[in-house]
Amino acid sequence: MVSQTRSLVWFLFICLIVSTFIGFAQSATLPTQEVEALRIIGNTLKKTTWNFNVNPCDVASNVAHYIFFVFISYIYRLLKTQNLQGSLPKEFVGLPYLQEINLARNYLNGSIPPEWGALPLVNLTLLGNRLSGPIPKEIGNITTLTRLVLEYNQLSGILPPELGNLSNLQRLFLSSNNFSGDIPITFGKLTNLTDFRISDNSLTGSIPDFIGDWTELESLVSHGSGLSGPIPVSIAGLTKLEELRISDLTGPGSPVPLLHDISKMKTLILRNCNLTGELPSFLGTNATLLENLDLSFNQLSGPIPSTYTELRDVKNFYLTGNMLNGSVPNWMVKEKDRDTIDLSYNNFSEDTNTQECFFERILNVYCLKSYQCAKSFYGLHINCGGDEVIINGTKFNADTYDRAPHVFESTINAWVSSNTGNFIDDHRVPEGSGTIWNNTSELKMIDPQLYAQARLSAVSLTYYAMCIVNGDYNVNLHFAEFMFKDDQTFKSLGRRIFDIYIQGKLMVKDFNIVEEAGGVGKAVIKTIPVTITDGKLEIRLYWAGKGTVAIPDKGVYGPLISAISVDPGKNFQPNKICCLSNIQYSFLTNFIIYTFLSAQQKHYNYEEDMMEDHFMLLDLNLIISRYNVFMYM
Ligand SMILES: *[C@@H]1O[C@H](CO)[C@@H](O)[C@H](O)[C@H]1NC(C)=O
Ligand SMILES: *[C@@H]1O[C@H](CO)[C@@H](O)[C@H](O)[C@H]1NC(C)=O
Ligand SMILES: *[C@@H]1O[C@H](CO)[C@@H](O)[C@H](O)[C@H]1NC(C)=O
Ligand SMILES: *[C@@H]1O[C@H](CO)[C@@H](O)[C@H](O)[C@H]1NC(C)=O
Ligand SMILES: *[C@@H]1O[C@H](CO)[C@@H](O)[C@H](O)[C@H]1NC(C)=O
Ligand SMILES: *[C@@H]1O[C@H](CO)[C@@H](O)[C@H](O)[C@H]1NC(C)=O
Ligand SMILES: *[C@@H]1O[C@H](CO)[C@@H](O)[C@H](O)[C@H]1NC(C)=O
Ligand SMILES: *[C@@H]1O[C@H](CO)[C@@H](O)[C@H](O)[C@H]1NC(C)=O
Ligand SMILES: *[C@@H]1O[C@H](CO)[C@@H](O)[C@H](O)[C@H]1NC(C)=O
Ligand SMILES: *[C@@H]1O[C@H](CO)[C@@H](O)[C@H](O)[C@H]1NC(C)=O
Ligand SMILES: *[C@@H]1O[C@H](CO)[C@@H](O)[C@H](O)[C@H]1NC(C)=O
Ligand SMILES: *[C@@H]1O[C@H](CO)[C@@H](O)[C@H](O)[C@H]1NC(C)=O
Repeated sequence: MVSQTRSLVWFLFICLIVSTFIGFAQSATLPTQEVEALRIIGNTLKKTTWNFNVNPCDVASNVAHYIFFVFISYIYRLLKTQNLQGSLPKEFVGLPYLQEINLARNYLNGSIPPEWGALPLVNLTLLGNRLSGPIPKEIGNITTLTRLVLEYNQLSGILPPELGNLSNLQRLFLSSNNFSGDIPITFGKLTNLTDFRISDNSLTGSIPDFIGDWTELESLVSHGSGLSGPIPVSIAGLTKLEELRISDLTGPGSPVPLLHDISKMKTLILRNCNLTGELPSFLGTNATLLENLDLSFNQLSGPIPSTYTELRDVKNFYLTGNMLNGSVPNWMVKEKDRDTIDLSYNNFSEDTNTQECFFERILNVYCLKSYQCAKSFYGLHINCGGDEVIINGTKFNADTYDRAPHVFESTINAWVSSNTGNFIDDHRVPEGSGTIWNNTSELKMIDPQLYAQARLSAVSLTYYAMCIVNGDYNVNLHFAEFMFKDDQTFKSLGRRIFDIYIQGKLMVKDFNIVEEAGGVGKAVIKTIPVTITDGKLEIRLYWAGKGTVAIPDKGVYGPLISAISVDPGKNFQPNKICCLSNIQYSFLTNFIIYTFLSAQQKHYNYEEDMMEDHFMLLDLNLIISRYNVFMYM
């Protein structure tokens, strides 16, 4: 390893300087006991490139001890991202000055040694390994600890109450493990906490009230933790919060929690938290730094408050999937330079704004009002994220638009797709893109063309077909995971987990492509039978906060799908009263408006669609029952 060699060179160099300064005081050798500890540690970790046989420093032994361990601590930092295959050595206790253990992003297994409780650690980072078993209660003895980072492992058991003794703790990251039980009440003492992450666990109980005592808290992240709502009222006092991300809480309905001071808030996500009542007006004051506001998939009703004009500079603004009504404010529809606002699946009234947005081109507001089936289809075939391909004589439609949030419409083939959310931590791609993954590895499955690209979503991906001949069908969803690696490195340790809804009903909870397919790079076709009775089919993939979010890179999570093929079932009997009568019915009764803004949507070729002169007539009963959407009479 180049870095390793470089560090040893540095070490020798520093030793030389130090020896010069202390004037070659006495001749002594390196602390042999610690060198022995190091050797065992190297073996246990399976770190093969270390060689401490050479005695680099020949200086006064007590000074040497100290210098040695200062620099050994430094060298230990280089143990991260090495894909070490071993387990955690308890022999670290043989290095009594050790302040930091950072073994992040390796391939280590086994459990955390209780012996480490005796070390004077300041930072303990084990993120992105295969560690299992519980957190030893002895870790609660390391009162010097300021950072305890255990995310993306397979740790389990309860959270030891002893951790409440870590009074200096500032950063506690426990996401993506399988911790169970309640958050111990002793955690209320962790008043120095600035960052707390608890997502993707199997916890029980509700979000504790004592988080209101964590007055230093700047960031709280809890997606799919297992905890239930409501969000405690005490959260109002956390005035230093810059990031509050909570999603997928079960439990009773509750209003949007009041936050007394959101002047520091940059990201506020309260998604799928069973929030009820109206949008709070406090959000419209003092939210000067707010960049991401996501209140999607709740039960919010009423209008968008007039004070929300103050939220003009919010970059990503999602109110998707609520029951909001009234008119959409002018600025949300008319102003340019909005990056992304997603208001789809609500109950806004038809007025000049929403009507105009249907015709407005520059702003690319996409308002799908109604759909007239020019023809009917015996199924649905989409090469998600890819170009049009023909497989066994069947044409799979292209689906190549790369923006999120976004509503895409395939006029000719009578389907729309809606992609909500964006990967806010993913800085690899320009913001708002990154919804298509190009596979670069070899495709060994049947029909490889379908798997060459995949469609990604950060939250919710819906495909909605509008003109299908009624009858029994099989929905075949084609998946293959390519974003994780198939090797013995941390890049293979990601877990992608999402839910599959058909016609608004949860059909598959916690779907995991790699598990179902039996590995990375392998295809799995999930077949779900469905009876279509009104010409409409809705397929929806939803990320409920489960799985890892930063392996191999930040922003790798959420639904991924390669292709959709919906084909008539064995006993298919077309129902003749399909589409036409429905059209008339829907024309008179129902509308859908996907109100949708994106300053960057200029790629969308609105003109071409207008020339096709297809007005969209949609019977939205399905969507309505699912999302409590909007319906006009
Ligand atoms: C602990 O980690 C922080 C952040 O990486 C770093 O600034 C600090 O120097 C570390 N402390 C020790 C003792 O290694
Ligand atoms: C760690 O994984 C290796 C294989 O990679 C296995 O042989 C060993 O038994 C595992 N150890 C523990 C403690 O799970
Ligand atoms: C470490 O923790 C254990 C259990 O929490 C406790 O019994 C023991 O006394 C502690 N040791 C020290 C040195 O504090
Ligand atoms: C650590 O926490 C445990 C349980 O919460 C408690 O019984 C114990 O007294 C604490 N130890 C110290 C040294 O504070
Ligand atoms: C918070 O940390 C500071 C210094 O790191 C320490 O002096 C203080 O006691 C800690 N707070 C609590 C409540 O323990
Ligand atoms: C997580 O732990 C629970 C018990 O607390 C267990 O039922 C479940 O199978 C575990 N999940 C995984 C993925 O290991
Ligand atoms: C949301 O709250 C309502 C009313 O309190 C309750 O009936 C419903 O079950 C809750 N939903 C969920 C998903 O917990
Ligand atoms: C907005 O912030 C100012 C100064 O930080 C404060 O005085 C005012 O009360 C805040 N207003 C609201 C509604 O929170
Ligand atoms: C919006 O919905 C509320 C009930 O949630 C209703 O009282 C109100 O009249 C509606 N407003 C409009 C403009 O439809
Ligand atoms: C195409 O035909 C092959 C061979 O019969 C079959 O294995 C494959 O599943 C078919 N592909 C699709 C998408 O139906
Ligand atoms: C995927 O490939 C297409 C065409 O090969 C290219 O236009 C697009 O930029 C690629 N996307 C990504 C995310 O690499
Ligand atoms: C949507 O609004 C209409 C009229 O404003 C109302 O009749 C209907 O009940 C609302 N739907 C929902 C789900 O709130």
